[in-house]
Amino acid sequence: MAKKLVSVLRGTPSWPPPLWLMRQAGRYLPEYRALRARAGDFITLCTTPDLAVEATLQPVRRFGMDGAILFSDILILPWALGYGLRFAEGEGPVLPRLQPEDIARLDLDRLEPALAPVQEAIARLRVGLDGDAALIGFAGAPFTVACYMIEGGGSKDHARTRAMAYRQPRDFEHLLAVLTEATITSLSLQIAAGAEAVMLFDSWAGVLSPSLFRRFVANPAARIKAALGERFPEIPVIGFPRLAGGLLGVYAEISGVDAVGMDTATDPALTAALVAAPVALQGNLDPVALLAGGAAMTAEVARILGALRGRAHVFNLGHGILPETPPAHVAELIALVRGAGEAA
Ligand code: CP3
Repeated sequence: MAKKLVSVLRGTPSWPPPLWLMRQAGRYLPEYRALRARAGDFITLCTTPDLAVEATLQPVRRFGMDGAILFSDILILPWALGYGLRFAEGEGPVLPRLQPEDIARLDLDRLEPALAPVQEAIARLRVGLDGDAALIGFAGAPFTVACYMIEGGGSKDHARTRAMAYRQPRDFEHLLAVLTEATITSLSLQIAAGAEAVMLFDSWAGVLSPSLFRRFVANPAARIKAALGERFPEIPVIGFPRLAGGLLGVYAEISGVDAVGMDTATDPALTAALVAAPVALQGNLDPVALLAGGAAMTAEVARILGALRGRAHVFNLGHGILPETPPAHVAELIALVRGAGEAA
């Protein structure tokens, strides 16, 4: 029998909904901070199987989520293509600012050997994960990965990226095509190693105009879903075009993904009307409500559960857990969601 998380992602509702949390491994956990200190460097933590396995298991061991997301980062993909990456203390990721001539140097042949430690971590996780928790693989969507490469790191408005899409559309198309192929390879390797579902994080999808959104967010997602669906028809794909708002229905239709992630600003009831069943919905408690805890969190959780009752729904946050979050609030949240099942 399929694990609960996988069966909901494939479109079968379950009550109470299965739950996992974006960025469930990370700095809010003291055991993660200790592991991170031991690894020294964040890329070493992602690419040393023992360490990545431990980071993946820490939150599941402590809280018993229904999903374990592989510990890695969306920027490991450009790194594996031979593109520079470092994580500067207190600054986030730093990459070279992409020039059009860099695109030809992205080396798809490097991908498989460079991602071997990730495969190894997944294979070990399938043995080490007990119970009903499903292993989730992931990648950054081509557009969001392109944003980090073109901006050279984070950005407020992604103006360089959007300027390249308008001024050098051929180069931009080419970059996205290479990243789409690389993403298909990376996710295929993860599934072949044992990932039971995969998620595509398009964190900056919401900065595009509707026409560019269709071309550079929805179309690449469709190519990725189609390629994976041919090889691995049983493996659900979750698409998370963050801040896509009213375009979530268009995204679901064009991409053909099995589940759509909702960010914090998205209304679950309106989205349930936009995105036709059996496509599952995932989300979307405000990470700040989790940080705050108490009555405000309880009310938000009830509102989300009520809006999606009867629908295939995976409970999650609307974005990643904040480092300042008290671990006790995570335990409280899980008890609330599971308790809703007992009350009903
Ligand atoms: O627990 C999990 O969710 C699995 C691991 C995971 C990480 N990053 C670990 C990480 C996942 C799924 C990601 C996705 C990711 N990474 C996204 C998409 C989701 C989103 O947040 O929009 C993006 C945009 C990135 C890029 C990235 N990685 C940034 C901007 C940063 C710096 C900011 C920060 O929070 O530190 C990272 C670093 C990173 N990735 C950390 C972790 C645990 C913190 C590194 C540390 O320990 O210092």
